[in-house]
Amino acid sequence: MGIEWNQDALEFHLRGAGVSYVGRVLENGWLGHVYFGPELTPARSYGHLVPGPFLGFSNRIGEPVPLELPTAGSGDYRGSGIGVELPDGSGVLDLRVTGHRVIAGKPAIPGLPSTYVEVGGEAETLEITLADMIAGLEVRLLYTTYRDRPVVVRGARVTNTGKSPLILRSLMSAVLDLPDADWDLVTLNGEWARERHVDRRPIGPGRHSVASTRGASGHQHNPFVALARTSTTEDSGECVGLSLAYSGNFLADVEVEPFGTARLRAGINPEAFTWVLEPQASFDAPEAILAYSATGLDGLSQAYHDLFRDRMGRGSWRDKPRPIVINNWEATYFDFDETRLVEIAAAARKMGVELFVLDDGWFGRRDDDTSSLGDWEVDRRKLPGGLDSLARKVEAMGLRFGLWIEPEMVSRRSKLFGEHPEWAIGIPARPRTEGRNQYVLDMARPEVVDHLFTVVSTILGSAPISYVKWDMNRTITEPFSPTLPAWRQGEFAHRYILGVYDLYDRLTRAFPGILFESCASGGGRFDPGLLAFAPQAWTSDDTDAIERLAIQWGTSLAYPLSSMAAHVSAVPNHQVGRQTSLTTRAAVAFFGVFGYELDPTRLTEAERAEIAEQIGFYKRWREVLQFGRFHRLRGPLDGDGNEIAWLAVARDRRSAVVGDYQILSRANPGPRRLRLRGLDPAASYRVTRWPAAGSARVSPVLGGDELMSAGLVLDSDRETARLGDFRARIHVLEPAAEPEP
Ligand code: DGJ
Repeated sequence: MGIEWNQDALEFHLRGAGVSYVGRVLENGWLGHVYFGPELTPARSYGHLVPGPFLGFSNRIGEPVPLELPTAGSGDYRGSGIGVELPDGSGVLDLRVTGHRVIAGKPAIPGLPSTYVEVGGEAETLEITLADMIAGLEVRLLYTTYRDRPVVVRGARVTNTGKSPLILRSLMSAVLDLPDADWDLVTLNGEWARERHVDRRPIGPGRHSVASTRGASGHQHNPFVALARTSTTEDSGECVGLSLAYSGNFLADVEVEPFGTARLRAGINPEAFTWVLEPQASFDAPEAILAYSATGLDGLSQAYHDLFRDRMGRGSWRDKPRPIVINNWEATYFDFDETRLVEIAAAARKMGVELFVLDDGWFGRRDDDTSSLGDWEVDRRKLPGGLDSLARKVEAMGLRFGLWIEPEMVSRRSKLFGEHPEWAIGIPARPRTEGRNQYVLDMARPEVVDHLFTVVSTILGSAPISYVKWDMNRTITEPFSPTLPAWRQGEFAHRYILGVYDLYDRLTRAFPGILFESCASGGGRFDPGLLAFAPQAWTSDDTDAIERLAIQWGTSLAYPLSSMAAHVSAVPNHQVGRQTSLTTRAAVAFFGVFGYELDPTRLTEAERAEIAEQIGFYKRWREVLQFGRFHRLRGPLDGDGNEIAWLAVARDRRSAVVGDYQILSRANPGPRRLRLRGLDPAASYRVTRWPAAGSARVSPVLGGDELMSAGLVLDSDRETARLGDFRARIHVLEPAAEPEP
């Protein structure tokens, strides 16, 4: 690791684990981009890589000159990095480098989640200052390099150094100019109940973007994009990732200009964003994380998994094994009372579950989704003894107790709305749009955040609560806050998310022992920003095992196993009506933070016994399945997408758990082999199956080299084809002394 500043060449060179990032001050004082990719030799100049002399304007700016913070109006017509409206109405900037400094570690960003350091010397930050004297504007660009990570973390702070207010119209968290456009763009897209499906397509002339204007990062697109060489696979080839640590409106795009270079950007979505900067005021962009891999998408995922798990996640639960939950949502929906819940918890306890989660419907008079959000008082009709009585009964069984809340919302039919209609987001004199029969509270108002902190703290202090599922079931319409003057309404969406972060921050600090799980109608706000407060998230409301294959596959591109909550639910599945075996449902949900979302009292004895066995298996392998290295082997975009496979490998590589799934059964299958990854080539592994295969079978001992190079032989007998559709197998690799001859 290192940060060099070459004063002669006016060049900087950051080195992380196997990566280099180089930039230089151009002749006109602007900050040019030189290189991002495999590590380059230090103490050399690379400035000659910047194209020139080039066509264009006398200021020498124009496509394809690569820039760190491009601005509009001076000859570069690609998407810009910053847009500012100056007091005279003009918007052209001339930002020249005025200084730099190297900071040990990594500064935090006020009010925003960010990666951090824990050990001295693990990271360094280069801060480069640019200024436009005429505009009275200063920009500090931050670049953090971690010694052991192939990432560069980017940040930006804009300050009004002049005497008049300025209007910030856009500020990208990162812009990366790449010298060619021979890339595929990889994005994660979907909708409610089908989040983060992978899309991969070649880039061509023009701009291709993913974005959100919903007030949340959204089900539709994720604030993560990657560029992969067209030949890049899971385990070979180059790729570059860009992830935005932000839970609100975002934009990520890539642009190919006529000379064939590519510009990748990510930041707050400039659509519906402005920020008024009074003299001396500053604005901080959310942080963006660039990663580079020369070993395929797998290498990129490992970089993000490690960083998000270890240096974005915080708190007492960051490194701790996560409990196996039972959640009553799909078991009862709103129709429950204490007796029902205690029965469910007791049956779950007998099967080995560790935490009971009471979902929606416990407060106000919430018998369906048309009322009571905002009235965070226990519904004594359902829970006569309150949360405390239920939680204590649950605890007495040896389970911990968890609770669902949706603090950002208010129902029209609620006491809170009657008392404070002005706290619901909306434009005076216009009707508010309801979504799921509810309104969104104005989190841009500090008194709303204060109120929520008080009421949620009261609930969390009222009973032995160990876990919180923080839901958010609709997106924002009629964005407006009467507390902001007309010229500041463009700040609303960002202020909303700052309010959410503030509440999360205050609650997680006040209740450091509680495990928070974020949720937004399933996975509608699954992003690195929220991982800073809640180390795990509800991946999707779609609990069907087959649908989850694509969802968990896509999610794993950026997010670690320890962040993905995955539950076994009842059949026919409530979202798609599919029947799958308990084995298949567990074999998919094992890869993540495992739990159940069904009514165990409605199961047969045999099913309960099967679940008890599943839980035993998960506990045995929990460390690997939550904190091991996750490698994708065969995915939805491979072949006809009928076979999916992945594995989690223990940190010491001595054991591994392989998930092997076949969606539709095919007659007369040929021999199949699965080449594994991430094992120790010199190690020997005893390979067993879960659920256990016939007792006569001898578990083979195979070498890590063979398993990775030749592969694991699957389904050697054709009988397995008759097992039918939606088949799953788990192969367990445990240490064995010697390979058998
Ligand atoms: C959406 C969540 O994703 C579900 O798991 C459940 O908590 C419901 N909301 C409750 O309203």
